[in-house]
Amino acid sequence: MGNTANTVNPGSAVAADDTTADAAASANPVRKARIVLIGTGGRSEMYIRAIFGKHSDTAELVAFSDVNPGRVEFYQKLIQELGAPGPVAAFDPADLTAFIRDNDIDRVVVTTPDYTHADYIVEGLEAGADVVVEKPLTIDAEGCRRITRAVEETGRNVVVTFNYRYSPRNSALKEIIQSGVIGKVTSIDFSWVLDTVHGADYFRRWHREKKNSGGLLIHKASHHFDLVNWWIDDVPERVFASGGLRFYGDKNAAARGLGPRPERGTPDAGTAGTPVSAAKDPFALDLREDERLKALFLDNEHFDGYRRDQDVFTSGITIEDNLALVVDYHGGPTLSYSLNAHSPWEGYRVAVNGTEGRAELEVVERAAVLHSTDKKTAVDPSATPVEEEDSVRRNGERLVVQRHWEAAYEVPIVNGEGGHGGGDELLLSDLFNGPGEDPLGRPSGYLDGLRSVSVGIAGNASLESGLPVRTADLGLGADLRRAPVTRAQ
Ligand SMILES: NC(=O)c1ccc[n+]([C@@H]2O[C@H](COP(=O)([O-])OP(=O)(O)OC[C@H]3O[C@@H](n4cnc5c(N)ncnc54)[C@H](O)[C@@H]3O)[C@@H](O)[C@H]2O)c1
Repeated sequence: MGNTANTVNPGSAVAADDTTADAAASANPVRKARIVLIGTGGRSEMYIRAIFGKHSDTAELVAFSDVNPGRVEFYQKLIQELGAPGPVAAFDPADLTAFIRDNDIDRVVVTTPDYTHADYIVEGLEAGADVVVEKPLTIDAEGCRRITRAVEETGRNVVVTFNYRYSPRNSALKEIIQSGVIGKVTSIDFSWVLDTVHGADYFRRWHREKKNSGGLLIHKASHHFDLVNWWIDDVPERVFASGGLRFYGDKNAAARGLGPRPERGTPDAGTAGTPVSAAKDPFALDLREDERLKALFLDNEHFDGYRRDQDVFTSGITIEDNLALVVDYHGGPTLSYSLNAHSPWEGYRVAVNGTEGRAELEVVERAAVLHSTDKKTAVDPSATPVEEEDSVRRNGERLVVQRHWEAAYEVPIVNGEGGHGGGDELLLSDLFNGPGEDPLGRPSGYLDGLRSVSVGIAGNASLESGLPVRTADLGLGADLRRAPVTRAQ
């Protein structure tokens, strides 16, 4: 089985008195997990800060790697600010196997675009490391098959970092369902709305092409399908999907009478088209107005030509912006799910019906996008809370439970500091210190990753065929109903 040196038990040095304990500790310091990170873009910062900050006692970043050397440099500077004694090693992504083998690496953290996950997971496992991968596990059935084979052949661990499970409100709903207060779950009604800032952002970047992200059913909704699978502790069996690109893209823009637009949001950045000031055009992202985006992407374009600010009404978008699904679960419940990516507010509503009552979770992450010329708002309001409110809708969250024949009551939700209501911090702690026994079962392995992408993969197949698709017919290489084969994290 995989290497168990990744988590550290601070109490493992048992000694007769403090002096001998100190001596034993310095003679036998606890081995830190030796980590490499691949993909030094936006998401990697959370892991890098954690390794050089709160979790520096259990984890060591031995090296990082990216196809863009400019973004590696960005993080070299950041780690100096975080107090690193010197730069960490950097290596070419093509040398991942050799680097793992030559440097006794325990874990690879994969924060590259979705379409690359399967390659790096398989390579990491086969080279002898465990893998921590951002969601989604992968984007298609072929990726699932390859990952399943590599997990089974190497016996190593894959952790998929489903941080949404750790959001206190989502954990609270899990507790309610698990407690049995609403009885046996019969159906779930789940709708997620992304607004014209956050939702639009998926149509500017690599995500806009299905071959890169699998579309929002994989890239975004894998979070949501994982939540449902975990909330109700069940396995998706059959999926029917409908949807399309109805708002973003050149054809929709033309149909609504929008005139010619620049190819990108950053004016004078070397492309054709009339520059439109971001202040006048709420859909234009001017990378120069965000110091971090400028340093990570605009300043490093000359290395790879990657544009982070493509116009959302240009051609080339192959993903949907409106989606609806019906998912049948093995144990009987039905999920009705919808996703909209151009909503005026952002948040979600989920209702869980049970044989003894109903639980309803309502979350408003950004009550309105009140566009003004002098005010910028965070792209992702779940990661960076925003204050914008309108007089009708308020930012906030509410979990209400009502049993048959009884009045409704509200369940308190206790948030912590940091992104996703403190959920990111809890996830990182589990990741770097080991979760111990979690009664909510939040740590997730590769089978959870497979189960969540199985809905999106089946959904994409259903969008193509117009027919329901059974997850068992996707050829994912694993029986989704079996118990996880990976060891506890
Ligand atoms: N859990 C969450 O809340 C959350 C939030 C954001 C992103 N993510 C996930 O994190 C991953 C990265 O997303 P991001 O927003 O940081 O993207 P990004 O575009 O900001 O960063 C990706 C990085 O990978 C590099 N890269 C591209 N191809 C590569 C390759 N073949 N080999 C090595 N490096 C390569 C890019 O140069 C870039 O630096 C995605 O899988 C995404 O789904 C998860």
